[in-house]
Amino acid sequence: MTAEIIDGRAFADRLRATVAEAVQAFVAAAGRKPGLAVVLVGQDPASEVYVRSKGKATIAAGMESFEHRLPDTAGQDELIALVEQLNADDRVDGILVQLPLPKDIDGKVVIAAIDPAKDVDGFHVANAGKLAVGEEALVPCTPLGCLLMLKERIGDLSGQDAVVIGRSNIVGKPMAQLLLQENCTVTVAHSRTRDLPAVVRRADIVVAAVGRPHMVKGDWLKPGATVIDVGINRVPAEEEGKTRLVGDVDFESAKATAGAITPVPGGVGPMTIAVLLRNTLVAAHARAGFVAPAQL
Ligand code: GUN
Repeated sequence: MTAEIIDGRAFADRLRATVAEAVQAFVAAAGRKPGLAVVLVGQDPASEVYVRSKGKATIAAGMESFEHRLPDTAGQDELIALVEQLNADDRVDGILVQLPLPKDIDGKVVIAAIDPAKDVDGFHVANAGKLAVGEEALVPCTPLGCLLMLKERIGDLSGQDAVVIGRSNIVGKPMAQLLLQENCTVTVAHSRTRDLPAVVRRADIVVAAVGRPHMVKGDWLKPGATVIDVGINRVPAEEEGKTRLVGDVDFESAKATAGAITPVPGGVGPMTIAVLLRNTLVAAHARAGFVAPAQL
């Protein structure tokens, strides 16, 4: 079997088109654009790239983009003062504080300062708690996007055996909650899991989010499984001095066994910004007292 390659870029393009159309309807009803504020502290080059592409995508979707840059000498108090200013700004529906933060700033305290209604990353404990008890919540972009891709490919996920590898607050835990809500039988595997290959072999759905290059091998997979690779690992390339991106799944061996698989790059990565736009629009609807359209 050769796996179908799940095209994350095409998926993201479709979602962005849906969002852009719904933005027009929102603007007509609310008389204003939805707004997303992104805060970057310091000059981490990877974060710079993310923030720039978020800003561009926000404007392309017809939304307002607010970019705030603080020097890496900015302290926690200064960052929290900015978050509070954005909480109070009616033009801002979504606030994203780009991670990682400089080491003397406590990310937990900063995230706790974000108004949960504007927490488009879904990192605030109020949103994590709502997700856990099955209430409507803003859900972290990467796992929500993975779920949308799985539903587009498989349809009803009810009764599927799903294994999530990794238990981070950003991906693994919310991914498990989302799959449970879809009536999957969910196993969360992690670094202390015994006989991981045997655990993975039971799964109809595998979501790998551990940050270990090529960890999941093709012969661990149940034939026909759907594999979502969240890993983005930079490894040395064949060419001296160069690097390349690889996933947590050994793509070459996995594609011989899996039914469908996301590539790295071009799988999960491109889709997360599209989901961020979706979350911003959902937050804008809730803040305006509107019901978000079903296609979101
Ligand atoms: N840094 C890399 N990805 C993300 C993300 O999804 N949200 C935030 N806040 N920072 C990030």
